[in-house]
Amino acid sequence: MSKIYTSISQLVGHTPLLELVNFESNNDLKAKILGKLESFNPSGSVKDRAALSMLEGAEASGELKPGQTVIETTSGNTGIALAAFCAAKKHPLIIFMEPGCTPERIQIMKAYGADVRGINDIPHAAEIIKEFGFAPVKLMESVANYAKEQGYYYVAQLFNENNPIAHYKTTGPELVEDTDGKIDIAVMLAGTAGTLAGVGTYLKDHVDGVKIVAVQPTPDSLSYVPDAPATIDGVVIVEKEDGVTHPFIVRRNFKYDEMINVSGVDAYETAREVAKSDGVFLGASAAAALTAAKQLALRSENEGKNIVVIFPDDGMKYLSTNMYK
Ligand SMILES: Cc1ncc(COP(=O)(O)O)c(C=O)c1O
Repeated sequence: MSKIYTSISQLVGHTPLLELVNFESNNDLKAKILGKLESFNPSGSVKDRAALSMLEGAEASGELKPGQTVIETTSGNTGIALAAFCAAKKHPLIIFMEPGCTPERIQIMKAYGADVRGINDIPHAAEIIKEFGFAPVKLMESVANYAKEQGYYYVAQLFNENNPIAHYKTTGPELVEDTDGKIDIAVMLAGTAGTLAGVGTYLKDHVDGVKIVAVQPTPDSLSYVPDAPATIDGVVIVEKEDGVTHPFIVRRNFKYDEMINVSGVDAYETAREVAKSDGVFLGASAAAALTAAKQLALRSENEGKNIVVIFPDDGMKYLSTNMYK
């Protein structure tokens, strides 16, 4: 059978699951840590799954027509993934970047031909920010109106059901297949929470007794905190102090079993350690997930268990940060 592919769309998923054997023995871990290396996707991150699913879902429903312009607000990996697939599918793409993204991300999106704009370029952004502060939902409403006026397709990943569905249909089943269903704990961070809700729901539906652990950055590690020594980009705080879960998809669809807070400083230290111990070069959110997984793997109650960890991307987009300096 021929093994020549004709589109990067055919290369999404089936990413490898790697046991970090040196990291385990160096840290005297009691459980196995199995990392899903999402950087093996064609544009280099877990967001390829959601981006492709959202574009193909819109094509199938007729909302996205051939050659139609696509528009999205994003902090990076979704923009990169959309830029790659829009290039291959011949859709012009406009991206409004959220603040605090590494410059590598902007360069990559531009390389794929995307029209990259700042959050202040959203129509009426100045009035919205003056009246409501940095209010993502208000800004998104303005993008939605602009898209309607211009005849663009607005992806709206925070609310798009084809985002978590991508993970229910692909990431979750791959994890079960690769472990023969032997998963005790799954560890993930959340940006839109598409991964957390999609993988989490699939595992709960198919693996008896599985525990889903969500991880969130400490408030001083958020990507838009000025002069933060170490930030975890692309993810949000899920549990606000008032107890309200932040991402819409989690709020509506999914309840995890435990939350672990990780600081950027600790995540960076883990990233540097595992690059040297196992030759695995992680992005910041992946390193935060591994930091939490290590805590879980040190607990005596988890002895002999299998902990799967989603590694959303690798370290290439973080070379301008303090991570590997
Ligand atoms: C680096 C990184 N990690 C994690 C995530 C979280 O993925 P999700 O949006 O599925 O919650 C993102 C999302 O963009 C990301 O860019």
